[in-house]
Amino acid sequence: MHYRKLGSTELEVSEIGYGAWGIGGTQWLGGRDDESQKALQRAFELGLNFIDTALAYGDGHSEKLVGQAVKSAPQRVYIATKIPPKNRIWPASPSTPISEVFPYEYIIESANESLRNLGTEQIDLLQYHVWDDAWIHTDEWRRGIEDLKKAGKARYFGVSISDHDPDSALEVVKSGLIDTVQVIYNIFDQTPEKNLFPLCLERKIGVLARVPLDEGGLTGTITEQTQFEPGEFREGYFRGDRKKEIVQHVEALKKDLGERSETLPQTALRFCISHPAVTTVIPGMRRISTVESSCAVSDLGKLDSNTLATLKRHAWNRNFYQ
Ligand SMILES: NC(=O)c1ccc[n+]([C@@H]2O[C@H](COP(=O)([O-])OP(=O)(O)OC[C@H]3O[C@@H](n4cnc5c(N)ncnc54)[C@H](OP(=O)(O)O)[C@@H]3O)[C@@H](O)[C@H]2O)c1
Repeated sequence: MHYRKLGSTELEVSEIGYGAWGIGGTQWLGGRDDESQKALQRAFELGLNFIDTALAYGDGHSEKLVGQAVKSAPQRVYIATKIPPKNRIWPASPSTPISEVFPYEYIIESANESLRNLGTEQIDLLQYHVWDDAWIHTDEWRRGIEDLKKAGKARYFGVSISDHDPDSALEVVKSGLIDTVQVIYNIFDQTPEKNLFPLCLERKIGVLARVPLDEGGLTGTITEQTQFEPGEFREGYFRGDRKKEIVQHVEALKKDLGERSETLPQTALRFCISHPAVTTVIPGMRRISTVESSCAVSDLGKLDSNTLATLKRHAWNRNFYQ
């Protein structure tokens, strides 16, 4: 496992991080806590030292599992978590006043709840779970960051950027108040490369690349017959003709890539760590086998320029979250 410095922070984090949404157990179904714990321990053995969770993932369940797991890790593991929007609306809307989303008292209470779930005194990286630059000139989100840092409850702060809208957070990156951004970045959505990544490199802001496998679309395992458990988030994400579209795009991608010694999901993760602005990529991994496959990617290293040029052609502009 290789490590990268997280922006201007003092943290050296593994290039492969752990996305802990799936283990929360309510939006993703079919996982088991004992299996998730084993997957987390295997990831630590393989050198992974960074986890992204959120209070909203299973209403604190993911945070509790993560908090327990890191206690038996062989190395210090850094945890990033998130303050959910008070109105529980994702994504943020520029027309919603921030007072409905992140009022000051709520920010502090939410951080305290995460601290209790994680069983720790300090959160390594606390993120606003939604953001819109329309709020940049308001005061409470700034005070929240400053006071939580001053109280030692949050060491670093970041924002998680709206789905497929990387330019909605350029002003907060420039504000000097945040240390990291979290953004969708994968073979299908390459839009952060245009404005966000150059700015993050210039300002030394850490980048967490999220949804690197398009919620499973880039694993190559989805077929037109795939059924998700009723009520699971992915039932909606891959509804209607979308599975068919996924199959068409993945087939074209595989054809273009030709024979490779690694799996498609491994190529997809290598794509993410090939960009110099990306600090860590955070695939969701509920099983030991996916942990082993993903963690091996760090040693495979960056993709060559020919492969990257091929992947450029497979950018796909769409939003399945809507
Ligand atoms: N708004 C936000 O802030 C936000 C939104 C979405 C996601 N996130 C963060 O980003 C993380 C990643 O996104 P995600 O979990 O939604 O989706 P994802 O990482 O794009 O896809 C997860 C799926 O890929 C599979 N997988 C992982 N590694 C694999 C490998 N090497 N080979 C084959 N399959 C593999 C997983 O399998 P198994 O789980 O079955 O092992 C799971 O089914 C989340 O966990 C969360 O931390 C944040």
